[in-house]
Amino acid sequence: MRILITGKNGQLGKSIHKVVNSEVETNNNLNFHNFVFVGREELDLDSESNINHYFDSNDKFDIIINCAAYTAVDKAEEEKDIASQVNHLAVEQIAQIAKKQQAKLIHISTDYVFDGESDKAYLETDKTNPINVYGKTKLAGEKALQEIMPTDAIIIRTSWVYSEYGNNFVKTMLRLGKERDEINVVSDQIGSPTYATDLAGAILEIIKNKEFKEISQATQIYHYSNKGEISWCDFAKEIFKIAKVDCKVIPITTQQYPTPAKRPKNTLMSKDKIAEIFSVNIPDWKESLNTCMSILKEQK
Ligand SMILES: NC(=O)c1ccc[n+]([C@@H]2O[C@H](COP(=O)([O-])OP(=O)(O)OC[C@H]3O[C@@H](n4cnc5c(N)ncnc54)[C@H](OP(=O)(O)O)[C@@H]3O)[C@@H](O)[C@H]2O)c1
Repeated sequence: MRILITGKNGQLGKSIHKVVNSEVETNNNLNFHNFVFVGREELDLDSESNINHYFDSNDKFDIIINCAAYTAVDKAEEEKDIASQVNHLAVEQIAQIAKKQQAKLIHISTDYVFDGESDKAYLETDKTNPINVYGKTKLAGEKALQEIMPTDAIIIRTSWVYSEYGNNFVKTMLRLGKERDEINVVSDQIGSPTYATDLAGAILEIIKNKEFKEISQATQIYHYSNKGEISWCDFAKEIFKIAKVDCKVIPITTQQYPTPAKRPKNTLMSKDKIAEIFSVNIPDWKESLNTCMSILKEQK
């Protein structure tokens, strides 16, 4: 099997690379697959011709895992066209190519397709209503994909992704915790963090699953994050507790912390569907945070 992974320099792309390498080392059945990791240098999603050129000059793929995305939520408010190109139009084009190549497509989306007004965990079937440009472009990508590929694709919505790679909330808190005695963090946005290694593991479980391998299965949406329900404030407190950083976390409201892009209040998502269909591992958020932070500590 030839498996293409886009966004190789991003948090999820790097985490898939890490998990593939460690599984290959332990002689797992992933040995039979040929994983091709590409970043902006090889596959630039900024234009239609770049995308066509990449796929025209490479052999066909059996599975495409699209981890690349325009993820700068606030900047997207200003850069609507670029965000739309990467999160919507490029996804549409990749879906067309996947269909033509008879490849399966796994596409990653976001909790920000919801408006956050629900008081329950969102199900895959719940009404979407994005409140910022990033969420709108990601939803447009989901819809285009579903229209072009009514079968043979899956969309995984995830939330609050962090890892030992790139920039993320955990690394920002660790940096600020060293510089300051106290820090204000919003306490009225609720959700669940996702350790990118856990999501990478779940994706690799899915491609090994009998259910996924079957041809012409209806395209489905799944939700994946770690287990638990917290606010950004709870998240920051736990980061400082694990790192033994003496920095006071002061809870503030979203209103007290205005940002260019609006943020949904509750984006907790139910993971029952992905757990039931693919039996993927969904660790508790604290357990995964400890794992990531011990890797970050070793890297110092
Ligand atoms: N991060 C989160 O909190 C979060 C939350 C919910 C959902 N998600 C979704 O999860 C997926 C993975 O996110 P992540 O955290 O791994 O994001 P990330 O670290 O920002 O990585 C995204 C990657 O996409 C690449 N990319 C952006 N524009 C591109 C273009 N025009 N051509 C080619 N590559 C381009 C970036 O390349 P460069 O490195 O060259 O810029 C980057 O490596 C995305 O679909 C995202 O929407 C993320």
